[in-house]
Amino acid sequence: MSVNEIVEGVWWVGALHPDRKLFDEIIPLPDGTSYNTYLVRGSRQTALIDTVDPAKTGELVANLKELGVDRLDFVVSNHAEQDHSGSIPKILELFPEARLVTNPTCKKMLMDLLHIEEDRFQTVKDGEEMDLGGKTLKFMLAPWVHWPETMFTFLVEDNILFSCDMFGSHFSQKALYSQDDDRTLDAAKRYYAEIMMPFRMWVKKHTATVKGLAPAMIAPSHGPVWKSPGIILDAYEAWTSDETKDEILVAYISMHNSTKLMADHLVQALKEKGQKVKIFNLVEADIGELAMALVDAKTLVLGSPTFLTGPHPLAGHVAGLVGMLKPKTRKIAVFGSYGWGGRMVEQLKADLGGLNAEILEPILVKGLPREADFKALDELADKLI
Ligand code: FEO
Repeated sequence: MSVNEIVEGVWWVGALHPDRKLFDEIIPLPDGTSYNTYLVRGSRQTALIDTVDPAKTGELVANLKELGVDRLDFVVSNHAEQDHSGSIPKILELFPEARLVTNPTCKKMLMDLLHIEEDRFQTVKDGEEMDLGGKTLKFMLAPWVHWPETMFTFLVEDNILFSCDMFGSHFSQKALYSQDDDRTLDAAKRYYAEIMMPFRMWVKKHTATVKGLAPAMIAPSHGPVWKSPGIILDAYEAWTSDETKDEILVAYISMHNSTKLMADHLVQALKEKGQKVKIFNLVEADIGELAMALVDAKTLVLGSPTFLTGPHPLAGHVAGLVGMLKPKTRKIAVFGSYGWGGRMVEQLKADLGGLNAEILEPILVKGLPREADFKALDELADKLI
């Protein structure tokens, strides 16, 4: 995909990155990603909305050349993170007449992150409009749809919302528009879980605002453009709601089989009682899949052996991620094993710190579990259900 016309005077000019494997050097990208940049041409002026990751600057420049863009009046920055802002310095160098349009918070961040000179900026307020000549850009502050400076840009005449990270997905597909299939929605859910979930209450508020706006299209800065925005808006409404699904996630790791025996017994007990359970062995689990499951699940059970004096590092890593992602999980239980001592449970609880969930009494076993330990796991299953 090089350039792609969305409606008359509006083009996608971004870059696909299908072979990128990690985001932030931690988030797995099974479908790669894309950086969406949009060009809006009015009768008088032309604006670029966001840019691309620095690794893809050449593609963005080539796309502008393909469209014959020899003048840019404005570069709009909806979000200062470098996967969208990283090519701004090059674009400003190539188009010295262009003004960099953003809100004051984003301006400060761009100056700090990319050393952009202050005299290139034109700051805008919430609700301010800019008429390019039959194409009016309206700027809407939308903090915490990833960072504190994020904003939307709404193209009034065409009823298109450029939503930066919100409603996005790490999904590198050649087609411009979202397909009406599970894979597309799964990619969006994975993205929501990893990027948006920590800011759920903000995202919920912005979802309601966008629903009220009733855009004809939503054009995020990653992944496909939503031509039927109802699909992603309804999904966001469900994901950000306070409702949980009756699902229990059991995430565990085992070194010498004790914790695995406990996990297997607990899962079996839950299943026998008709409970829906999702199991993640942390040795091989895709943390994106786990994050997706956390969007809806009411309960998380974490199992770990004691590694030296604390949890196994993979269990600690997952607990730390869960604490940062802040899912709406209502209940958490911890189980595991030890050989000679340690503070595994205390450390896991500290890692989970930010969660507003009830933490049940842990079950800790010295060495291999005994009959009484299996009975305790049966009782835990009852409590969890
Ligand atoms: Fe896609 Fe928060 O950057």
